[in-house]
Amino acid sequence: MTRKIIIDCDPGQDDAVALFLALASSEELDLLGITAVCGNVPLELTQRNARQMCDIAGRQDVPVYAGCEKPMLRPLRTAEMIHGETGINGIDVIDPETPLQSAHAVDFIIETLLDADDASIILVPTGPLTNIGTAIDREPGILPKIEQIVLMGGAMREGGNRTPSAEFNILVDPDAADNVFRCGRPIVQMGLDVTHQVLSTRDRVGRIAALGNPVADATAGMLSFFDRYDTKKYASKGAPLHDPCTIAWLIRPELFEGKDCNVSIETQSELTLGHTAVDFWHVTERPVNVHWVYSVDAGGFYDLLTERLARFGD
Ligand code: RIB
Ligand code: CA
Repeated sequence: MTRKIIIDCDPGQDDAVALFLALASSEELDLLGITAVCGNVPLELTQRNARQMCDIAGRQDVPVYAGCEKPMLRPLRTAEMIHGETGINGIDVIDPETPLQSAHAVDFIIETLLDADDASIILVPTGPLTNIGTAIDREPGILPKIEQIVLMGGAMREGGNRTPSAEFNILVDPDAADNVFRCGRPIVQMGLDVTHQVLSTRDRVGRIAALGNPVADATAGMLSFFDRYDTKKYASKGAPLHDPCTIAWLIRPELFEGKDCNVSIETQSELTLGHTAVDFWHVTERPVNVHWVYSVDAGGFYDLLTERLARFGD
């Protein structure tokens, strides 16, 4: 049975690969729409980049919506130093044929959920949570319709990647993240503790490049650019492929290990703003709201990704 999903993203090379993985997995996933949010680069680029990925995948039919261009309460922080000035450096930017829908992404999310059966749609945010947090704030009636929220964001033992305490997606909009983590719907959280285990090494990128289809070529090109920052920073063998972990969970959850616990968001302290306080050892009375994922079979993840990207050559 296919599961209905909405991907909310800020492409971003890794968001782009998450979109490709979802588009290659139509037996498992029914992608109702893609909503773009401000984040790695400003909204006018993230929405364009999302549309370009649909073009490359030959899926101009997928509806793409532009959402919030700034966080709920705070100024926007972007990440061009990691993703490049286009957000998808590593490939040429084209003017996409996939149209931008006229509705605002938050309206699309609200209307789609209100029309749906209870617990029937999975939200997959891979950027700052502004669109999702705004939708919940504006229309709490959508909550019963959400089956689960499978998100990339946060960190525990890994520490922050944008400040010592905070991962980028949560830091950009901690107020929206607080709305989401308090909403009461089941959350599966892919934080840096697990995404830093899926590293795009030269061998893995080489296997993808050898597939020889436009989607694999774009993926290899983007990952070859994407790995230059984090490999220096972490002295690692490749850049962490954060966002596709969400889609891989939906297709092959057995590749991952996690634990149910409370995760709460720091929204006040300037020193630790955006910190995800993961109560891994249940030392507080805070209610369980998250399945915190902390381990992955990285080889199995790349086997899955490579096998699915190969489908674009059929
Ligand atoms: O911290 C990693 C996250 O921030 C990823 O989603 C990446 O695309 C950026 O949005
Ligand atoms: Ca992202």
